[in-house]
Amino acid sequence: MIKVKRFLISLLLFIFLFPFSLSPKNPMREKWLQKAITRSEVQLSAAIKQFNDSNKNPRTYENGKVILVSYKDWTSGFFPGSLWYLFELTGDKKFENAAKHFTTFVSNAQFRTNTHDLGFILNCSYGNGFRITQNPEYKTVLINGANSLIRRFNSKVGCIKSWDFGNWQYPVIIDNMMNLEFLMNVGKMTNNSLMMNAAISHSNKTMKNHFRSDFSCFHLVDYDSISGNVLHKQTVQGFSDNSSWARGQSWALYGFTMMYRETGKVEYLHQAEKIASFLLNHPRLPKDKIPYWDYDAPNIPNEPRDVSAATIMASALIELCSFSNNSEYFNTAALILKNLSSDKYLAKKGENGLFILKHSTGNYPAKSEIDVPLSYADYYFLEALQRYIKYKK
Ligand code: GLY
Repeated sequence: MIKVKRFLISLLLFIFLFPFSLSPKNPMREKWLQKAITRSEVQLSAAIKQFNDSNKNPRTYENGKVILVSYKDWTSGFFPGSLWYLFELTGDKKFENAAKHFTTFVSNAQFRTNTHDLGFILNCSYGNGFRITQNPEYKTVLINGANSLIRRFNSKVGCIKSWDFGNWQYPVIIDNMMNLEFLMNVGKMTNNSLMMNAAISHSNKTMKNHFRSDFSCFHLVDYDSISGNVLHKQTVQGFSDNSSWARGQSWALYGFTMMYRETGKVEYLHQAEKIASFLLNHPRLPKDKIPYWDYDAPNIPNEPRDVSAATIMASALIELCSFSNNSEYFNTAALILKNLSSDKYLAKKGENGLFILKHSTGNYPAKSEIDVPLSYADYYFLEALQRYIKYKK
């Protein structure tokens, strides 16, 4: 009799709770998580109304003004990408429609051959769009874009060239690891081994030349384009050539975790684990795990934070945990996300230029975008929230 009673109670509980566990507005979710998603909905709902006709996407909010950017800017794909993630997080069609609309704003990037940032621009927008909708028009844009990007690969150097400006011969920045996901994605989609091999070659060269013995990394390595030899290692956005620029370290962690997912090559997993160990054990990583803009900035703790470095790191750590099963990775990511969902970092309704998170740093040495919101901090925040929910299931 007791057994039958227990069974009936379990059945009733299951029937009652099952629909909620699948629902985007899940009352079983932690309070901070629901708050973060609801606030994101509020901010981005207002943003899509405000910027609907701009043909540009929001990048940051500085000196009381939202800066909108065209497909020529490396950050232009993040706002549509955030809308795709928010659609997945909420199931609200309004965000899907908006994602479609704002994605088209970056379509012209597909034929650009003068930048390595096509992964950021097109994979976050069209890539997520194609993953979710399977729209064949999106696929065409992705293929065109990857064909443009691969033209920047030099087999002698074994890397994709990052920048066409400056006095370098063949500059490769650590950020460039992020664009490899685009090549892997389209390479698999079209069975193009040239693209996949270029991504692998770039990763191998980066692993060899960008890292120091403690697994921190330089921002920029300049190569001789004829011999392929390293000419010079330095920073551009960090405190000094030998310092650890926070976002660069996060790009590295994310990049090698992603390349392990894409290739199954265990050396990338080990690289990601060593980078994680450097970051998580760093004496100047604050208690709340939101990094200062550079781990070696001279006036820590009186230095600006970089929330974008935190969201990229959180998203990468959740993925890394799914491969390494090291609970420290997940727990740190969870702490970051929880802290970012507090009023210290999460924007209030209508403030912060309608971005979700405050307190990022774009380019400190150039005195640009210091302690501001950034579209990519929001993008990786939403990605990390989604990964957190999936991982916890
Ligand atoms: N990719 C440019 C930056 O991280 O600022």
